[in-house]
Amino acid sequence: SKKLLIDVDCGVDDAQAIMIALAARNVQVLGITCVQGNTAVENVCKNVLRVLKVCGLLEIPVFKGASKPILGVPVDAGHFHGQDGLGDAPDPSAPGLELLQEEGAVQALVRIVNQHPGQVSLVATAPLTNLALAVRIDPTISQKLKGLYIMGGNTESRGNTTTCAEFNFACDPEAAYIVLNDYLCPTYIACWEFTCRSKLPWEFCDDWLAQNTKKARFMTQIFKHSIEACKSERIDKELVAGQGFIPCDAYALAAAIDDAFILESDEVPVTVELSGTHTRGMMVVDTLDTLNKTHKATIMKKVDLEKFKQMLMDSLK
Ligand code: BDR
Repeated sequence: SKKLLIDVDCGVDDAQAIMIALAARNVQVLGITCVQGNTAVENVCKNVLRVLKVCGLLEIPVFKGASKPILGVPVDAGHFHGQDGLGDAPDPSAPGLELLQEEGAVQALVRIVNQHPGQVSLVATAPLTNLALAVRIDPTISQKLKGLYIMGGNTESRGNTTTCAEFNFACDPEAAYIVLNDYLCPTYIACWEFTCRSKLPWEFCDDWLAQNTKKARFMTQIFKHSIEACKSERIDKELVAGQGFIPCDAYALAAAIDDAFILESDEVPVTVELSGTHTRGMMVVDTLDTLNKTHKATIMKKVDLEKFKQMLMDSLK
């Protein structure tokens, strides 16, 4: 079976990604590491435990990681995911933080990758702070991963957080820079514009949520807030507003569990702008190879959306 580590800032689409992994056959989730992003890291940990509880899999180890980006102040996405990260629809009987592992997320990433060299796929659906710190502690992990699957960045300088930067990269540009430059394993990126262009019809979302299961009821509750935010005015009109359902983080997860998921991609060197007035945190795609980087990332362009729908359906069964 495929061994997965998932690094999240558990907002709603992180929860969607985690639930796909938990429902997938032939996938073993070795651990879930948490980082500040969509909400504070304590909320992220609580949210992951809530997801595991709904799925009856609280035995999967959860690790708390960075509470701030490498530089600067934390930015969150409470306006979109809800202040608590899961739609502000609290569960009074949610599991407590005493269920977290004592080991920190960064240490756990280093340990687990070293325990299974060449076998672990790491899915990162959050600011890349934990991954950057992990590769600084142990540079060898970058070559020991089977693959790295990132939701983040952008290819057309269309931001969703600042003018030119996507949320996960905008939250911690230094971390994104370190990861894109220091991880030398096969790297797959589901960037912002790609996820928007791969949106699913709202009618599918209705059918997905209408399944009469505990998981579907949970998803319906936590998703309400961001469904409304998707239809609001602050959102890129052409790419997003109201036209469909975009489970961003789940695209990266789907690619990690199914080798045939990506149908078309570009293999290009990428990095991150760190100092531009308007462009800090923007992903830079070096199509002309001017940076002389030997390592290329696989940028997803087209994926198997029928398979994706099936994975989403199965995740709430
Ligand atoms: C990314 O930002 C977050 O709000 C989502 O969870 C996703 O990881 C999209 O830009």
